[in-house]
Amino acid sequence: MQPDNPTPERERNVSRRGFVLGLLVGAGGAMVSVLGFAGYQVLTSQTDDDFEPPEWQRVGSVDTFPAGETLPATLELPAGPYLIWVRGDEDGTHTAFSSTCTHQGATVNWWPAKEQFICPVHGGTFDAIGDPVAGPVPTPLARHATRINGVLVEVRTTAEEAAAGDACAPCASRACVACSFTRSG
Ligand code: FES
Repeated sequence: MQPDNPTPERERNVSRRGFVLGLLVGAGGAMVSVLGFAGYQVLTSQTDDDFEPPEWQRVGSVDTFPAGETLPATLELPAGPYLIWVRGDEDGTHTAFSSTCTHQGATVNWWPAKEQFICPVHGGTFDAIGDPVAGPVPTPLARHATRINGVLVEVRTTAEEAAAGDACAPCASRACVACSFTRSG
């Protein structure tokens, strides 16, 4: 049985074409939007190379790093977030260790039960003040200077040189990273 008001074949073709055309226009519009947004991002975004980290970065409150504990913190560097290990010292200061193994640059982890930094790649091991104690690690972990600003611990983004056995001349202490004395190789 025929419907009461059949759509003529020509009209059906026209409306089908209109529907397909609408889809294409919609898809094209969406594509233009996506490409336009991507282009806008390329034009307006900074590359990682453009990122200049502040010299000092806040890593947490003083309470975050209790004396005797070594805990992870993050610095924002041009290459991305960078793990450091921050130890609360008994005198109320802090020591910030680079997480970069001095053998071949893998990331070392702090093992509280052993009180050591251990590199998972070749087993290089450092003691609690970052000195090498086992494995192929040639020199201590580098350190970042730290300071307290109000109630916040701040860490300098540039790691101090920390050559093995190299004492800081002004106070003759290898544990001291607070002064501006430049350690020599
Ligand atoms: S990279 Fe760490 S011990 Fe080799």
